[in-house]
Amino acid sequence: MFDKLKTLDDLYEMQLKDLYSAEKQLVKALPQMAAAAKDGRLRAGFEHHLRETENQVARLEKIGKAMELDLGGHTCKAMQGLIAEGQETMSERATDEVMDAALIAASQRIEHYEISGYGTAAHFAERLGHSDAATLLRQTLAEEQLTDTKLNELAKNYINQKAM
Ligand SMILES: [Fe+2]
Ligand SMILES: [Fe+2]
Repeated sequence: MFDKLKTLDDLYEMQLKDLYSAEKQLVKALPQMAAAAKDGRLRAGFEHHLRETENQVARLEKIGKAMELDLGGHTCKAMQGLIAEGQETMSERATDEVMDAALIAASQRIEHYEISGYGTAAHFAERLGHSDAATLLRQTLAEEQLTDTKLNELAKNYINQKAM
C-alpha cells in the first residue's frame, strides 16, 4: 500500500494515516465499551474519552488538510486487533466487577498503543518543521496519557479490589 517510503516525510504521512484509521475505529468501539462498563465512573470515563477521540479525529483531519493529504484508505490492523480482543472480552460471561477490570486492561492496551503512535508522529512533525501539526499531535498525546493515568487510578483504587 505504501510503495514510496523514501523519506521521513513519507513515513510521517503513513503514521498519520495509521493514527487516523485507529481513531476512527475507536470512535465506533468506545460506545460499546461504555455500554459494557458496570461502574459509573468507568462508563463516564469511556464517554468522556469518546468525545476526546472525536476531537482527535478532527485534529488529524486539520493536519491532513493543511498538507493537502487524504488520510483515508488505510486500515490500522493493530487497532483492529486490539478492538477485537476487547470485543472478545465483552462477549465473555463475567461478574460485573471482573468485567470492569477486564475492560480497563483492554483499554489501557489501546491507550498505550496510541501513546506510542502519537509520540512518534509528534517527534516526526517537529523534526520536519511542521510546528502547528506537532502542537496538535502533542495535545492528543497528552489526552491519551491522562486517559491512561485515570484508568490506572480507577483500577488500582478500587475496581481491581472489588474484582477479587
Ligand atoms: Fe485517541
Ligand atoms: Fe485514546
